[in-house]
Amino acid sequence: MAVNVDAEYLKEIEKTRRDLRALISSRNCAPIMLRLAWHDAGTYDAKKKTGGPNGSIRFKDELNRSHNNGLEKAVAFCEEVKAKHPRVSYADLYQLAGVVAVEVTGGPAIQFSPGRKDADSPDEGELPDPNQGASHLRTLFSRMGLSDRDIVALSGGHTLGRAHKDRSDFEGAWTQDPLKFDNSYFVELLKGETPGLLQLKTDKALLGDSKFHPYVELYAKEENVFFKDYANSHKKLSELGFNPP
Ligand code: HEM
Repeated sequence: MAVNVDAEYLKEIEKTRRDLRALISSRNCAPIMLRLAWHDAGTYDAKKKTGGPNGSIRFKDELNRSHNNGLEKAVAFCEEVKAKHPRVSYADLYQLAGVVAVEVTGGPAIQFSPGRKDADSPDEGELPDPNQGASHLRTLFSRMGLSDRDIVALSGGHTLGRAHKDRSDFEGAWTQDPLKFDNSYFVELLKGETPGLLQLKTDKALLGDSKFHPYVELYAKEENVFFKDYANSHKKLSELGFNPP
């Protein structure tokens, strides 16, 4: 259904933002909310113009795919907010949750434009496989219309949260403080493996690729550059296939 972004809708968005802030802080669920936003958006196919941030991850067929294990929790949290603000589309709600998750954990402000339409069926688009390398990352992200720089910046999302054995078969956090959004993902990556911390094959691929590597160095050294690039890339991700009204 088309979203009519009138003054009333904008007011609802601001109330939704406040409710998300309170919910994410009280449940400490920023990481999984960010992951939800990413997995709803990351199905985008720029050539076919399918997928993207359209709320389709709420459909069981999509939510039950193995790469979405655990996200039913985030969908249920969002449902609590949706019940209070039924006019706000799921697509906007999930992307706003991602933006707020980054903000409340100390990350950069990400510009948010509302008006995304909800899909009425699940998306098909493949998400990255953690057991693959640089060329796979490039193939999948370029299908979404995203660049090498976007890939490295967005991978910095792993500054938040952790892997869970029962969800992905991996275990552990990428950084020492997984509830703080900072550049420590890149600092840890450059240090090499640390007992107790996780590095997926796709994380290590950023070190081994000559185009990705300079951004890892840059973001580890200059947190402000990482924040600026991350905010740009996250905004792009949150608007794939969407032209703000
Ligand atoms: C967690 C893979 C990119 C945000 C995870 C997990 C895997 C994974 C396997 C663990 C899930 C679990 O066991 O709970 C990948 C791969 C990527 C990628 C292969 C390709 C580059 C991203 C991006 C973002 C992101 C672009 C956001 C901008 C997160 C967050 C978590 C997470 C926040 C932690 C969730 C939690 O604590 O519950 N990712 N990811 N990831 N991912 Fe990614």
